[in-house]
Amino acid sequence: MTEQSAIAPKPTPTLPDAQTVTSVTHYTDSLFAFRCTRPRSLRFRSGEFVMIGLLGDNGKPLLRAYSIASPSWDEELEFYSIKVPDGPLTSRLQHIQPGDELILRPKPVGTLVLDALLPGKRLWMLATGTGIAPFASLLRDPETWEKYEQVIVMHTCREAAELTYGRELIDALPDDPLIGELVGDKLLYYPTTTRENSTYMGRVTDNLSSGKVFTDLGIPPLDPKMDRAMVCGSLAFNLDVKKILEDAGLTEGANSAPAEYVVEKAFVD
Ligand code: A2P
Repeated sequence: MTEQSAIAPKPTPTLPDAQTVTSVTHYTDSLFAFRCTRPRSLRFRSGEFVMIGLLGDNGKPLLRAYSIASPSWDEELEFYSIKVPDGPLTSRLQHIQPGDELILRPKPVGTLVLDALLPGKRLWMLATGTGIAPFASLLRDPETWEKYEQVIVMHTCREAAELTYGRELIDALPDDPLIGELVGDKLLYYPTTTRENSTYMGRVTDNLSSGKVFTDLGIPPLDPKMDRAMVCGSLAFNLDVKKILEDAGLTEGANSAPAEYVVEKAFVD
């Protein structure tokens, strides 16, 4: 018997579409990120989402839509989630540990993809809360940086600690061996808080409407000829941002009909 064959075989997954959790990071009492194995057959476009979850008490899968936060080239998958104390899924999902299994339906879909936008010069990523997740994927995709001259990330949370996941990711981009050089000085990051003092304050909507973000960053206002936008937050946020973009002359695009902006609702338990 060889040494290798003496090693106990890996237990067969008991869940349908089972993947194994490889790491978990808790950011605040209400936010955490986790990584898991990626099915070999899973191909997706950065910015898309899949259904993931756990087996419910009734023995049936309890699934929710989650944006994939890792880029399409990554050999693992990453997700960023809120923890809702009474949430059917996240009240349990928040306790997952490396080695645990979760269910992942390998059918990625979504509109926050580069293909759904017409060519442009500046790409705006507009997010609240966990709406930063699809952008965590797109920001680590070389195609984003090859297609745009400037990428502007506006991310708003109530408190500064809630910005940590996005901030750490963005801080790491220049040193990323794959895209660091592509990023160069193309990235403008505008994190704001609404209920705690920080360098920049206020809602994405207010900072766009008042023009404060353009003044603070020293850039021209929205122009449908060169600006493209991706929006991901709560329903109310998405609707309010849509109005601002439409008023500025941008029209909504889709996979089948690319245009100037695209919208997706962030996962809420
Ligand atoms: P605010 O604190 O002023 O409500 P939530 O935790 O409620 O999902 O909110 C996340 C962030 O999104 C908060 O900073 C919140 O600001 C902001 N926000 C909520 N609704 C909207 C909206 N309709 N337009 C712009 N920003 C919003």
